[in-house]
Amino acid sequence: MRSVINILDLSVEELQKLIDTANNIIENPKKYAHICDGKKLATLFFEPSTRTRLSFEAAMYELGGNVLSMSDAGSSSASKGESVADTAKVISCYADIIAMRHPKEGAPLVAAMNADIPVINAGDGGHNHPTQTLADLLTIYREKGRFDNLTVGFCGDLKFGRTVHSLIEALSRYNGIKFVLISPEELKLPSYVKKDIIQNNNFEYVQTTDLESVMSELDILYMTRVQRERFFNEADYLRLKDSYILTPEKLNNAKKDLSILHPLPRVNEISIAIDKDERACYFKQVLYGKYMRMALILMLLEVL
Ligand code: NCD
Repeated sequence: MRSVINILDLSVEELQKLIDTANNIIENPKKYAHICDGKKLATLFFEPSTRTRLSFEAAMYELGGNVLSMSDAGSSSASKGESVADTAKVISCYADIIAMRHPKEGAPLVAAMNADIPVINAGDGGHNHPTQTLADLLTIYREKGRFDNLTVGFCGDLKFGRTVHSLIEALSRYNGIKFVLISPEELKLPSYVKKDIIQNNNFEYVQTTDLESVMSELDILYMTRVQRERFFNEADYLRLKDSYILTPEKLNNAKKDLSILHPLPRVNEISIAIDKDERACYFKQVLYGKYMRMALILMLLEVL
């Protein structure tokens, strides 16, 4: 029995297997329509979410399984003071697998240590978000056909953006990646990611506050939302929230085959005029996230 708390819990071979399974599901959805008949996924979301929770639930339904959903933390026993460890033990009696989102870093790990069933981290505070990374990886693979030798720009809130941290960790498994880190001074990548992942592995990287000056180099541009809920004061958020707004003019010197990704929700950072540009991948990315979650559920339930 195993859980996925960090993207590094999956080997490169397993990532490739998930990508292959997801591609197979996309081609033959009927083949998978009853593969999880009788299985139950519990979604425990202690923090707001639309797409991640619904994506997990859609994934389980499309595999023929059922879903037990606890979406409103205010109505759960956590509000009575129940520990994450106890919640995990209790849910193990009802379900076959758990997807958990929690505002506290490490909560899904505690759940995994106490549950008798696999736990998937669906986002823990400003820390990690491995299943968003699975969506990102399938998008990159389908757009570029490879992971090696890509110049990947991350733009926006690199400090609190957990999807950024997880994707950088995942890409550090491949060769010839150049990281371009674009953020305001205050929202720079935390040093545990920059030092431990990028510098210790001797990856080439640049850090800048200016998106347009690096645009022409990028194969992938990963835009992110400034994470309002993780700020200590509203004035800082208001000052920084519109640091980067991607408009068609800013793409003037971008590569013709640039891929623009965003984990969504988008606030202001990508103008809707970009949605028509064929380089915009963020809505496909949502769909790919569902297929990768299906593949991950199959792997952790040992159905495939
Ligand atoms: C992301 C998250 O929750 O970290 N959203 C998502 O799961 N797709 C990104 C965000 O909230 O900005």
